[in-house]
Order: sequence, then structure tokens, then C-alpha cells
Amino acid sequence: MGIPSEDKEEGTGLLNDIDKTSQDSGILVNGSGSENPHRRRFLILVPILLLSLTTNIITLSIIVSNPKHYQRPSKYANLHLTHTEPYVLLTDYSSHNTTLADNLWHSINIDSGVVALPDSFAASHDLRTAQRFPWDTSKGIYILHGFHNLHCLKIIYISLFEFRTGQEQSRTWHHIAHCLDALRRQMLCDADDTPRATDRRAEVVSGVGQHRVCRDWGALENWAKAHTACYKRPEKPEDEVGLKRFMHCPEGSGYVVDEGYMPTEEILVGLPEESIATGVAGEV
Ligand SMILES: *[C@@H]1O[C@H](CO)[C@@H](O)[C@H](O)[C@H]1NC(C)=O
Repeated sequence: MGIPSEDKEEGTGLLNDIDKTSQDSGILVNGSGSENPHRRRFLILVPILLLSLTTNIITLSIIVSNPKHYQRPSKYANLHLTHTEPYVLLTDYSSHNTTLADNLWHSINIDSGVVALPDSFAASHDLRTAQRFPWDTSKGIYILHGFHNLHCLKIIYISLFEFRTGQEQSRTWHHIAHCLDALRRQMLCDADDTPRATDRRAEVVSGVGQHRVCRDWGALENWAKAHTACYKRPEKPEDEVGLKRFMHCPEGSGYVVDEGYMPTEEILVGLPEESIATGVAGEV
């Protein structure tokens, strides 16, 4: 271990000082001379080092005890983790009162999840550009992934509802299968490693008494509404198609709807469905 050179000792900043302290302590052991010129400075630096260590430990313990405040916010809407909720919670969506549950599932609305985002936002967030938003062509139309997945759950529920109540299926099996597949892949992508505790009991239940930390869906909805694409899906999908669905601009949006708008972009054709995933995963 070398003695720190003079110019090294001129270094400024807390880190440099701590570095030198550890070097100095090595020198102290090696030299063990009472006249060591480094000794006095070493003694002065000890309390600073201890203070620094204590501060670090306190900071770390705060971070560990409140992880939600220190997680990075979501990439696009800048959402933080805001609250905890229990894993096992029977909500009205799984009520034995099927009227109640059916009403809730049918009332899920994902219209606000269709948003118009400026190309400048896309560029600064590593997003590809998208289909033009007709009422401001400097923006692209996107569907937020959470809303997409919620839409998928909804149509799976609707399919099961129609089956349960002996009605004809209103969605194609192909669409249902796409949705099941999308949710399956989301789970694989999340690779959620949270261990759910089991209990010795007759029913298979896990996670009782455990909580997860969540973002605020309402905050995402607000962000989406602030970027509205004026989208509204009619109750019967065939009632309103294409451009008409984007003509529902809320008051104050500033957009002027032009019924004669003609898109000029090329239509993306010829790709197999879910081509990106298939290409990457090499699935048949
Ligand atoms: C079931 O839910 C519906 C809709 O909320 C309600 O009107 C009805 O009273 C409920 N039935 C029972 C038995 O609780």
C-alpha cells in the first residue's frame, strides 16, 4: 500500500476524503508510529466517516421501508406506486349476485385508453410513430397497454356471459383467443416472482394477509383523458366504424373535427397477426 501523493491529498469532495481515510488507516497499522503526520487528520476524519455511514444506513433503511416512494415512475405517464392492496379480495366483480357482477363487467369502458400523443413525445420516449390523429396530424394514435388488456378481459367475460346465458357469441373465437394469448404473454413477460403464502385449509387459497403495492389506475385514466383521441366505441361495434369513432371530442379539447378528412398514410398490410412476437419468439 502506497502513501498518498501530495496532489492526491489535495482532492476535494467527501468521497475523496473517505478514500484517503481508508488509505490512511492502512498506513497507521503499517507504520504504527506515534509521530505519524497522518494520524491527526485520521482522527478528525473518523467522526465524519461515522456520520456519513450513519446517514447512509438511515437513508437505506428509509428506502427499504418505503420502497414505493423510491421506485422509478412509469415511463410514459410518470405514475408512482401509491397504495397497497391485499392479494385476496373478493370484489363485486366476482359477486355471487351475477346481476351485479355482469353489470360491472359490462360497464368497463376503455375508450379513454385510446390516446393521441405528439410525435415529439414519441421521440423523447423511444416510441415509434403511429397512425395519424386526424384532428392534429403532428400526433399519433396509441392504445395504452393496460386498457388493451382490460378490454381483452372484458370481451372474454362477455363471451363467457353469453355462453352462460345461452346467447349467441357476439365476438369471434379468434378475437377471444387473441386476448387470452395476450394476457398469457403479459404474465410470462412480468415473470412475477412474489411468493404467495399457502395455508392448511380445504380450499386452495394463497396470499391471505399479503399485500402488493400498486399504481393508481385513476391517475392513468386522468393522464389518458388529458391526451384524448376523442374515441368512443359504440355499444354495437358495427354501429360506428372508422373515423366516426374519433369524432367525440370533449369540450375544451381544442380539436376541430373535419368530416372530410382523408388519411394519406399507407395502410399496413400483409403482416401475419402478432408478427413481432412470432418473429422474435420463433413460434409456429
Ligand atoms: C343483485 O344486484 C342487483 C344489481 O346491483 C341488485 O339490484 C339486486 O338487488 C341484487 N340481488 C340480491 C339478491 O342482492
